[in-house]
Amino acid sequence: MAYFASKDRYLNMKYNRCGNSGLLLPAISLGLWHNFGGLEDFQTMKEIILGAFDMGITHFDLANNYGPPPGSAESNFKNIMQSELGAHRDELIISTKAGYLMWDGPYGEWGSRKYLMASLDQSLKRMGLDYVDIFYSHRPDPDTPMEETMMALHDAVQHGKALYAGISNYDAEQTMKAVSILQDLGTPCLIHQSRYNMFDRWVEEELLDVLDKKGVGCISFSPLAQGLLTDRYLHGIPEDSRIAGDSIFLKKDHLDPELMFKVKALNQHAEQRGQILAQMALAWILNRKQVTSVLIGASSVSQLNSNAGTMHNLQFTRDELAYIDNILI
Ligand SMILES: NC(=O)c1ccc[n+]([C@@H]2O[C@H](COP(=O)([O-])OP(=O)(O)OC[C@H]3O[C@@H](n4cnc5c(N)ncnc54)[C@H](OP(=O)(O)O)[C@@H]3O)[C@@H](O)[C@H]2O)c1
Repeated sequence: MAYFASKDRYLNMKYNRCGNSGLLLPAISLGLWHNFGGLEDFQTMKEIILGAFDMGITHFDLANNYGPPPGSAESNFKNIMQSELGAHRDELIISTKAGYLMWDGPYGEWGSRKYLMASLDQSLKRMGLDYVDIFYSHRPDPDTPMEETMMALHDAVQHGKALYAGISNYDAEQTMKAVSILQDLGTPCLIHQSRYNMFDRWVEEELLDVLDKKGVGCISFSPLAQGLLTDRYLHGIPEDSRIAGDSIFLKKDHLDPELMFKVKALNQHAEQRGQILAQMALAWILNRKQVTSVLIGASSVSQLNSNAGTMHNLQFTRDELAYIDNILI
């Protein structure tokens, strides 16, 4: 059946300015790290991506290595772009990254110009795109001069292969350095992508202040702690969950009693707010003024629909925030 985008798609999403840039990002963005690889059901991933676009999610985040197998999320995305979403290219913010292992040999990972340039060309080919909106250095490389990595991002923009440059997983000090190099080159750093959720608050120590001062946007990945901050595991481990699969990033032993105690307490509080836990966990991040967008994952359209409901209540009282802090200690 032909796809016609919902006419109401821009009615319920909020769009936040990304740092000091001209770019607005949806408060909720969708990532293709899990559930969009070559081993997954194509129809389901298509429904999730089109469903996301229909609810105003204009930003899709990829990386060279997303799969498995690596690269397959970008190839699947190409199929959806070519069959359904291509007509909406100018309504989309598509990002990709390079930094983790992608091919054999000394040029297949980290932060050299050689790797970043080749990887971006491969990503564009796999996605069937002329350009991406954001190209990221996926992780800092301790053995490559940061000037080289940033110059590669700058040149990607200069060559029209990316519209904006971003960094991911850089700590506060590395971020200050990267932002200043990019600024000197004339390509402002648009955005920083880092893990940030109720269970992992490292960015609050220093990074958020740096981003605020430098006018760089912040997109939080794994905002639901890969599903831990939802009702997914409240009554055991569902067969179709990330933990039950063969994820090396989320395993059974993450569900320790202390964590589950916190999840249950948070879940109770979410109920009092009239939200599900996933919605409260996303709203809690979006409550930080420095955060531009939460970058969620989803394995079904119904998860996506539930998460979109976050937009109905983004407010927290001071007492509530203190109460949540107490649970999280
Ligand atoms: N830059 C980096 O280094 C980096 C690293 C990691 C991720 N990322 C980006 O961040 C994106 C999101 O990461 P993530 O997938 O870990 O995010 P997440 O939103 O924390 O976790 C997503 C998972 O949570 C579960 N879930 C989502 N909504 C739910 C709901 N309403 N109810 C119950 N369960 C729900 C699903 O798990 P089930 O699959 O079990 O259903 C889903 O796959 C990635 O796709 C990627 O784009 C970037």
